Amino acid sequence: MDSQDQTDNTATPIFDVVDVTKEFDQGKVQALRGVTLRIEDGEFVSMIGTSGSGKSTLLHLLGSLDHPSSGTLRFKGQDIGNLPDPAEFRAREIGYIFQSFHLLPTFTVEENVQIPMFGLPGNTAKSRKERAVELLEAVGLSHRLGHLPTKLSGGERQRAAIARSLANNPTVLLADEPTGNLDSDTAVQIMQLLGKLHAEHRTTMVLVTHDIEVAENASRIVQMKDGRIISDPKAPAASHQSHPS
Ligand SMILES: Nc1ncnc2c1ncn2[C@@H]1O[C@H](COP(=O)(O)OP(=O)(O)OP(=O)(O)O)[C@@H](O)[C@H]1O
Ligand SMILES: [Mg+2]
Repeated sequence: MDSQDQTDNTATPIFDVVDVTKEFDQGKVQALRGVTLRIEDGEFVSMIGTSGSGKSTLLHLLGSLDHPSSGTLRFKGQDIGNLPDPAEFRAREIGYIFQSFHLLPTFTVEENVQIPMFGLPGNTAKSRKERAVELLEAVGLSHRLGHLPTKLSGGERQRAAIARSLANNPTVLLADEPTGNLDSDTAVQIMQLLGKLHAEHRTTMVLVTHDIEVAENASRIVQMKDGRIISDPKAPAASHQSHPS
């Protein structure tokens, strides 16, 4: 951790999460029990914690894939807790990377990368193709443009998924166990790629992982347990953070 890595706390943060809860099954499951978290522009944050601690649930809320049960969730100052059109928000602002890649099997690698571009107006067939090729070159896959995902290795699939996540030049990259299905050498390569993208573009990144070595690629590690944040080097002074006893 770099103590010199001071971010400007007066600027509007990318995410401002205040006392957010998330319940499932009419309250039988309390996946998040009051989470307060502020993520500044350009930060690279890892979220670690045991299985079931609420990491994916929190990432879903940040990516507007789900709504909080209570509390406030702001993106650049705007309340995103109950957006009327979350798909449009996601297409514009969020790149999402999943453990199991989630590539569409009947489309080629290049077509998969183009798919998010259809979510925003103003792209022509030519611009979509050019952008897809450029992104696939950036992740080292220019030799696999016309391949179907099933013909690729795990590492290549995740590279393709990373290229897809960057299609619309997102403000934030959210990655849920992006190395979870990869062998350790390939995992290192994928983390090097994400680190390079972060260094080059200063895209804000939130990475969920079980693996402390993977987490250590980030400049800030937030730890969750039982639906709460139990450790965060940038935790707000006491008030909102409710620690388990
Ligand atoms: N759609 C859902 N319906 C009911 N319960 C859910 C749902 N999604 C998550 N949960 C529950 O919420 C809790 C937190 O789940 P979550 O997926 O966020 O954990 P996680 O930290 O990502 O775990 P893992 O490391 O295993 O992926 C768990 O108890 C889980 O069973
Ligand atoms: Mg999870």
